[in-house]
Amino acid sequence: MQKICVIGLGYVGLPIYLKISKKYETIGFDTNKKRIYNLQKHKDENNEFSKKNFIKKQVKFTNKIDDIKRCNFFIICVPTPLKKNKNPDLNPVKKSFDTISKVLKKNDIIVLESTVYPGVTERFSKILEKKTNLESNKDFYVCYSPERINPGDKKNELTKINKIIGYEGTNSEIKNKLRKIYSNLCKNLIFTNKINEAETAKGIENIQRDLNIAFYNEVLLICNKLNINFNEVIKLAATKWNFIKFSPGLVGGHCLPVDPYYLTYAASKKKYKSKVTLAGRTINDSMKKYVMGIVKKKINKFSKKNKSKIKIIVLGLTYKYGVSDTRNSQKLEIFNYLKKNYKNTTAYDPYLNNIKFKSVNNNLHKNDFFLFLSKGKKFKNLFNKIAKNSINKIIDPFFYYIK
Ligand SMILES: NC(=O)c1ccc[n+]([C@@H]2O[C@H](COP(=O)([O-])OP(=O)(O)OC[C@H]3O[C@@H](n4cnc5c(N)ncnc54)[C@H](O)[C@@H]3O)[C@@H](O)[C@H]2O)c1
Repeated sequence: MQKICVIGLGYVGLPIYLKISKKYETIGFDTNKKRIYNLQKHKDENNEFSKKNFIKKQVKFTNKIDDIKRCNFFIICVPTPLKKNKNPDLNPVKKSFDTISKVLKKNDIIVLESTVYPGVTERFSKILEKKTNLESNKDFYVCYSPERINPGDKKNELTKINKIIGYEGTNSEIKNKLRKIYSNLCKNLIFTNKINEAETAKGIENIQRDLNIAFYNEVLLICNKLNINFNEVIKLAATKWNFIKFSPGLVGGHCLPVDPYYLTYAASKKKYKSKVTLAGRTINDSMKKYVMGIVKKKINKFSKKNKSKIKIIVLGLTYKYGVSDTRNSQKLEIFNYLKKNYKNTTAYDPYLNNIKFKSVNNNLHKNDFFLFLSKGKKFKNLFNKIAKNSINKIIDPFFYYIK
């Protein structure tokens, strides 16, 4: 029987852990003591799960290597951020493999789920061989299964997402074990015997999205300059059968602003300088400046008040609607910038952990400006309420609500 260990219990690891522990004896391992402390109390600070989701009696969370000694199936879900110079930071992945090297036994299986660039899984599997004197694809097996989970998305939840599994070995018993365990996570498993293809596929999914949003952002900027109605333009263009619809906006989070650099890093190692892959990054990253410009223009047009008296409320702070994640959130940067320049700036985001921003008070109507940065039902309801009497006070830079 497999005894599973999920390494890294964040947005990706915890849902996997909770699903798989319903069927298998599973241990959740994380180096963050606070995270472990909260999970032991069945508390998820990411607000993706409530206490009732931690149903299994034997749920076990730990930061001690001794506790995972008896595990024989490891799923790695640790972060893959960027260094300051925008090169991939593989330290958490390296440390996870270090951890596994201390407990690795014959016939163990390791599945890396973190987003990486092509070649990373093989590199760490070689390091594991050196550290343990065991042979990959003979004594132990390292696979790659990119995660496509979309936090906050109740429609495309874990079990409904097609799951790629890269396994290069020929041992059918291992493949059967992978199939058996992963079929508890996803209905549709897609096997490939080339791990680097799976690694590349994951990267390009996110890069494609980043580029498409960047194009929409640029169209929005151009329409703005030319004084043309952006939404009408999109509506007209979308009448063509092969036009692809996206929304402009503030790209943030752990994936889109990061993954393009992973692929171009791998390409640069082979002396290929990317021409398109990073093309969306500059414009997507600069959209906060566009928003700040729109805010200033609106204030100059509609308010005679002294800067220090102007009351602005920013609606939406987390990097996307429906999640509490603020990693690389341009919305948060905009809020901080406004707060510095207009000290009466406040914010509302029901999904944020910070209680200060979780509700709007009765004085909502006293705000001079309402800056809508998130697209979603809760903000739309608020927009409808405010728009009735105060349409001139609304700033909707991406035309999410003002059509
Ligand atoms: N968040 C998403 O929407 C999403 C979607 C698909 C793929 N991914 C990818 O999945 C991976 C994980 O992302 P995430 O959003 O879950 O990150 P996260 O930061 O939410 O969670 C990572 C967890 O790993 C822990 N950790 C860090 N180093 C560790 C180590 N050496 N050993 C054990 N635990 C360690 C951290 O404490 C944290 O709890 C990344 O590669 C990311 O690109 C994320």
